[in-house]
Amino acid sequence: MRYSDDLIEEVRSRSNIVDVVSQYVKLQRKGSSYFGLCPFHNEKSPSFSVSPGKQMYYCFGCGAGGNVFTFLMQYENFSFQEAMQSLAERSGIKLPEVEYSKEARAEADRKAVLLEINKKAAKYYYCQLRSPQGSQGFHYLKGRGLSDEIMQKFGLGYADKYNNSLYQYLKKEGYSDDLLKDSGLFIYDERRGVTDKFWNRVMYPIMDVNSKVVGFGGRVMGDAKPKYLNSPETKIFDKSRNLYGLNIARSSRKKNLIICEGYMDVISMHQAGFNNAVASLGTALTSQQASLLKRYTDDVLIIYDMDEAGVRAALRAIPMLRTAGLRTKVVDLRPHKDPDEFIQALGTQAFEERLEKAENSFLFEIRILYGQFDMSDPQGKTDFFHKTTEKLMRFEDEIERNSYVESISRIYGIAQETLQQQIRKLAMKGTAAYQQPEEVKAQKPKKEKVSGADKAQKLMLTWISNYPGIMTGLERYLEPAHFSNPLYKEVAEMLFAQIGTGEILPAKIINHFEDPDTQSEVASVFHAVLPLETPEEKQKALRDVVCNMKELSIKTRIAELSPTDLAGLQRLMGEKKELEQLRRQFPDIDIK
Ligand code: UTP
Ligand code: MN
Repeated sequence: MRYSDDLIEEVRSRSNIVDVVSQYVKLQRKGSSYFGLCPFHNEKSPSFSVSPGKQMYYCFGCGAGGNVFTFLMQYENFSFQEAMQSLAERSGIKLPEVEYSKEARAEADRKAVLLEINKKAAKYYYCQLRSPQGSQGFHYLKGRGLSDEIMQKFGLGYADKYNNSLYQYLKKEGYSDDLLKDSGLFIYDERRGVTDKFWNRVMYPIMDVNSKVVGFGGRVMGDAKPKYLNSPETKIFDKSRNLYGLNIARSSRKKNLIICEGYMDVISMHQAGFNNAVASLGTALTSQQASLLKRYTDDVLIIYDMDEAGVRAALRAIPMLRTAGLRTKVVDLRPHKDPDEFIQALGTQAFEERLEKAENSFLFEIRILYGQFDMSDPQGKTDFFHKTTEKLMRFEDEIERNSYVESISRIYGIAQETLQQQIRKLAMKGTAAYQQPEEVKAQKPKKEKVSGADKAQKLMLTWISNYPGIMTGLERYLEPAHFSNPLYKEVAEMLFAQIGTGEILPAKIINHFEDPDTQSEVASVFHAVLPLETPEEKQKALRDVVCNMKELSIKTRIAELSPTDLAGLQRLMGEKKELEQLRRQFPDIDIK
């Protein structure tokens, strides 16, 4: 069910964000905003700001941001409904009763039965492994060095060599084909009838954080392919939201969580006492998995396979984890391939030492980058340092950035001052400083790569929200239709409408977006800092941002124009002329 926009806005406007956030974070007033230590990532100096005027929060460190609803959704892991309920109760607003529809109830019942089927299957496989029919599987696992105790802890099992034993068993237990079909444990084939998905394999039940079996992985006991078969996604198994081993690791009380690739890696590490290990099971880490980790820790050690695919996976995972507010380090196991092999070969003590020596994930990224350039060539060297400076721009905290500058300077033999100068140059351009690193955006699903046009439009919105007064002078030149990026256009429409009524409510604008990633993106528009001092700097920067944005937007819209739309082309050509005029003679605008 969905609450009406009016009701949502009433609840929002009666929940002062400063009061709500203060229940969780110690805030201190600084000018017109409040600052505190960000609850979404680990930090020592406060970069988490709450603005009573905007009724929004934003972290300059990790980019988390939004309104009072977003805060509770992020902090308490509430759904939007739950955040609404909590805030409504707090401010004494009565919400209409939520009624479960018949369908919703039926759906919940069906999920419960699917969980029951998976649990029965896990027990069945478990018993098989410990029976005479299972001796081959048992010896295989023993041969890989697993103790009885660890096999029991992970509920390991065995699917025998007949291709329908589990089906026979569950049919006898009285489950209908309609339900069994949905469990993902069987293959329904018109010609061959029903067979088990898993047979002649050792079985690894996959559990959710509450230790409920939601699926399985099954491994061949030799070199046949595919090595592992896995349950498909079902109503109860969402691969992007699950981490193997988290049901145990969550209560390990270690200072960090270890993320690795495979079933055997997790099990081996747990057996060796590293019971804080989890696995993403061979697929790329998702942002949901990163948030899941963040619920239990602030620090993550990445141990991916020591091959090219593993390095690529680590490079993708790092920004994902950083965006979730996690600090990351990368563990080097060379010359061994994965944690399981390392521990078998060198033992627990050596493994512990490798964990201690884990490399800061930023320095890891730069080291990999270094390998991609020919440093004996002046051009290669220049490109490497340019790329490195761009990456350094992601640190908004000056102390943090400086300490990275110092490390990079020491490791790669370049003067600190040279790097600092380049950083200042990029900062003056006004774009990179508050942008999230490109990789993060590229990672986010549904979002395309950020183009120059997008960046320029975002910067324009930041200007307007920081200095709404400029619209008096810019009205003639700027309208929402000039924003070619659909998200920014929507924000511009709402922002322009609010300026028309004389009251800017960024938090209300955020209400219009449901997806938390989009909410953070919109929040970053309103919280970006424009590092400009003198009036002259400001005038010049404003002219550049208006003209750049218009130019890129005209280009984008021309590119998107249908070839037969001559009227459209004429209109855009007109805009282009006006722009040239504007560039030559930019009006003196009161920046306030
Ligand atoms: P690996 O090939 O690194 O296997 O795949 P592993 O974990 O070292 O397995 P062992 O030690 O040979 O038993 C890493 C993970 O990728 C997934 C599995 O989750 C595996 O643990 N994978 C791999 C599959 O799902 N299917 C495959 O065929 C291979
Ligand atoms: Mn392995």
